[in-house]
Amino acid sequence: MDGNGRWAQKRGYPRIFGHIRGSARVRLIVRAASELGVKALTLYAFSTENWSRPEGERSVLWRLLKKHLLREADELQRQNVRLRVIGEVERLDPDLQKVVSAVVDKLKNNTGLQLTFAVSYGARSELVRAAQLFSQDCLQGIRSTSDLTESVFERYLWTSVLGDLAGVDLFVRTSGERRMSNFLLWQSAYAECVFIDTCWPDFGPHHLRGAIEEYSRRERRFGGVSAQGPEFTSPHSEDILLK
Ligand code: FPP
Repeated sequence: MDGNGRWAQKRGYPRIFGHIRGSARVRLIVRAASELGVKALTLYAFSTENWSRPEGERSVLWRLLKKHLLREADELQRQNVRLRVIGEVERLDPDLQKVVSAVVDKLKNNTGLQLTFAVSYGARSELVRAAQLFSQDCLQGIRSTSDLTESVFERYLWTSVLGDLAGVDLFVRTSGERRMSNFLLWQSAYAECVFIDTCWPDFGPHHLRGAIEEYSRRERRFGGVSAQGPEFTSPHSEDILLK
């Protein structure tokens, strides 16, 4: 959800105005995702690096998150949305942690859109933490190092709660930046990336629909070859390989 600060500054407002409008966009986009049949949506709300922002800006973000959770809980329930929060939740203010747990708990039986807020999230932290947890299990005899496969490792990631939906199909970044910025690096190994110049406070359902349409035109080969392509069987193939 990038570009809140720039959106505000371009209009001569303090950065927090961008966050306020950005927070209102979350409601619109969650509803649009549900209506478009998206199974899982993860929004990057606060990164481990965002802790370096001024205290005033951080506290506005926490207030917006809390307000959003309290205001939207009933509506999310009506929409059958399940919510999860991933990241270093233990670093949040205890009062916010309580609100997070209460709303997550309220929506826990919902089977529609699987919505995740990544809060104090960093993919590198997630990977290091997973390695630490796996090592602890080895030391306690619950696992042995030879058990380690990709699918076992995935069980130690924060996104393990999403089960089969943890892998990212489509990665959308707003505001014209073309970086991953430490977001779901493992899970995005084969994500299709769509970069949109619009800042998050102006991101609307039509942008989401456009990104999904763009995704549906992509050919995902996962390192394989195109299903339709001609076989490489030239009578000269050996010559070509030897040159
Ligand atoms: C990125 O814009 C946005 C954020 C760091 C905060 C996003 C969080 C909210 C909108 C708060 C509410 C969250 C939820 C899930 C309801 P930026 O400030 O990095 O923009 P810039 O790159 O233009 O400075």
